[in-house]
Amino acid sequence: MTMTTPLLEMEGVHKRFVLHLQNQTVLDVLRDFSLRVFPGECVRLSGPSGMGKSTVLKLAFGNYQASAGRIALRAVDGQWVDITRASPREIVQLRASVVGYVSQFLRVIPRVAAIDVVAEPLLEPSPDGHPLMDAAAARAEAARWLERLRIPPSLWQLPPATFSGGEQQRINIARSFIRTRPLLLLDEPTASLDPLNTATVIELIHAARAQGVGIVGIFHDPKVAAAVASRSVAMQAPSH
Ligand SMILES: Nc1ncnc2c1ncn2[C@@H]1O[C@H](COP(=O)(O)OP(=O)(O)O)[C@@H](O)[C@H]1O
Ligand SMILES: [Mg+2]
Repeated sequence: MTMTTPLLEMEGVHKRFVLHLQNQTVLDVLRDFSLRVFPGECVRLSGPSGMGKSTVLKLAFGNYQASAGRIALRAVDGQWVDITRASPREIVQLRASVVGYVSQFLRVIPRVAAIDVVAEPLLEPSPDGHPLMDAAAARAEAARWLERLRIPPSLWQLPPATFSGGEQQRINIARSFIRTRPLLLLDEPTASLDPLNTATVIELIHAARAQGVGIVGIFHDPKVAAAVASRSVAMQAPSH
């Protein structure tokens, strides 16, 4: 590894859930967790279910608030932004320009056509305030991604709510890869995909890494992990 600057630095991160509906039960899911991700690498979070792997990705994307610690993302101007202290507006900015995320499940927006779900990230303004392209160009680009991920054209104008699990997952992947951002978080991106689409996603990950994108991923399938990951971080239950 060359001495480049990381894209993501998580330092001493603690995540506690307090379950108010379960007698205030306290779950300390992460204790003193640290991780650095550099351009072009793909770090696999490995370990059994329930160890906090998805929680790490949600923290880095600003979906969960950290209980303690620092989670710094390198913004496009080279400045560090601590997402644990960022305003909702700054988080929107970071997601448009710095960090992409393929969640385990697609959060479907009712009545929005699949092609527009995929095109949407291209219409988010860049940090300079300008959109990357107009709506027609964004739709054309979305069509290319839907084709690449083998979504039949008969589905493009339909909202993905009724799509199969594998189709929704491919919409999610297209939506995240359509706009290249320096850091990409992948939560079991091939979990419900057939071998052909799994191979496509492996290719997309290789291409992203070759472009210098840094990736943190959870890959259930050891073959997929071996094909894409450059190193592995084993997640363990925090000691109490
Ligand atoms: N929003 C939440 N509220 C309460 N507990 C949660 C929440 N998210 C995750 N957890 C708990 O944190 C632990 C780790 O979950 P997760 O990060 O999804 O694990 P993994 O991805 O390694 O399977 C689990 O015990 C889970 O129940
Ligand atoms: Mg998980």
